[in-house]
Amino acid sequence: MKTQKVTTISQFISEQQQNFPEATGDLSRLFLDIILAAKIVNRDIRRAGLVDILGTHGSINVQGEEVKKLDVIANEEFISALSLGGDCCAILSEENEDIVRIKNPHSNKSKYIISIDPLDGSSNIDVNASIGTIFSIYKRISNVYEEVTMDDCLQKGENQIAAGYIIYGSSTMLVYTTGNGVNGFTLDSSIGEFCLSHPNIKIPETGKIYSVNEGNFNEFPEGVKNYINYCKQIDKASKRPYSARYIGSMIADFHRNLLRGGIFIYPPTNKDPNGKLRLMYECNPLAFIAEQAGGTASTGYERILEVLPEKLHQRVPLFTGSKQMVELAVKMFQENTIQSF
Ligand code: AHG
Ligand code: MN
Ligand code: MN
Repeated sequence: MKTQKVTTISQFISEQQQNFPEATGDLSRLFLDIILAAKIVNRDIRRAGLVDILGTHGSINVQGEEVKKLDVIANEEFISALSLGGDCCAILSEENEDIVRIKNPHSNKSKYIISIDPLDGSSNIDVNASIGTIFSIYKRISNVYEEVTMDDCLQKGENQIAAGYIIYGSSTMLVYTTGNGVNGFTLDSSIGEFCLSHPNIKIPETGKIYSVNEGNFNEFPEGVKNYINYCKQIDKASKRPYSARYIGSMIADFHRNLLRGGIFIYPPTNKDPNGKLRLMYECNPLAFIAEQAGGTASTGYERILEVLPEKLHQRVPLFTGSKQMVELAVKMFQENTIQSF
């Protein structure tokens, strides 16, 4: 029987760490906390149809207990694994209004802040479509042992030390970057390990998929309407029309486009001039991964990673994916002329 060498994510992380003799191992330990939380959340998602955790937060189950929505559970599980691990000093979560400061003897000396969207695509939980967790890691600016400040948290995306996501799809994968390329690991549930399955992921320069909630078409700026009409135009040479694919879990749309090539757009709308997606929890981590894979990410006016956040839950428009597609979409968005196709 032919045996293949398997690299688990823990082995991979420790091999990477050996390239940095000055590394203390703190970041590697933080990664292990994230991996543990991801496995716990994965277990709960896989059982979601069997136990009473689907549905709306606030309802009461037959035991008279409050039924927690899965995104609340995922948030609690990540916060608990990260707090117990003590390898970060603060957590910024889409589900928490304020900074969650971790105070224990170990975390007090940690320099890392982690930002998470514990469950992305929550509207898809109840219909068994792919969902995800998104995370990114920053180094605090102030000194360890001091109270973590808002300035420590509101850093530009280009300061990210690492970013990644877990996609709970037909298989569970963890994809991450530390600024040295992007690698993907698939969870082998029989051994409970994420194993390297997608080394050095590169997004194709262009693709044939566009992902946008076209139901909002009439709310979009003219430039975005033009790009969508361009995607639908028939032109053999450029392999158009492109295919429309939009799940409503950004992580699933982004992951597919990362592997196949494509563009994901959540533009400004008349109703929401900053779009819907959150800079700290969604756009920055995916922008870092996109760039590290050879793609790009823009608000339509500037590189996502250069936006200085003003508040934790700030929203920004997002154009991300294959370089050529994003560049054209951004150009048309900026021109914003009325065109007929
Ligand atoms: P979340 O579940 O974390 O709130 O994020 C949902 C986001 C994103 O995943 C998805 O692409 C987008 O919302 C869908 O929004 P629309 O339904 O407005 O298209
Ligand atoms: Mn989300
Ligand atoms: Mn979410």
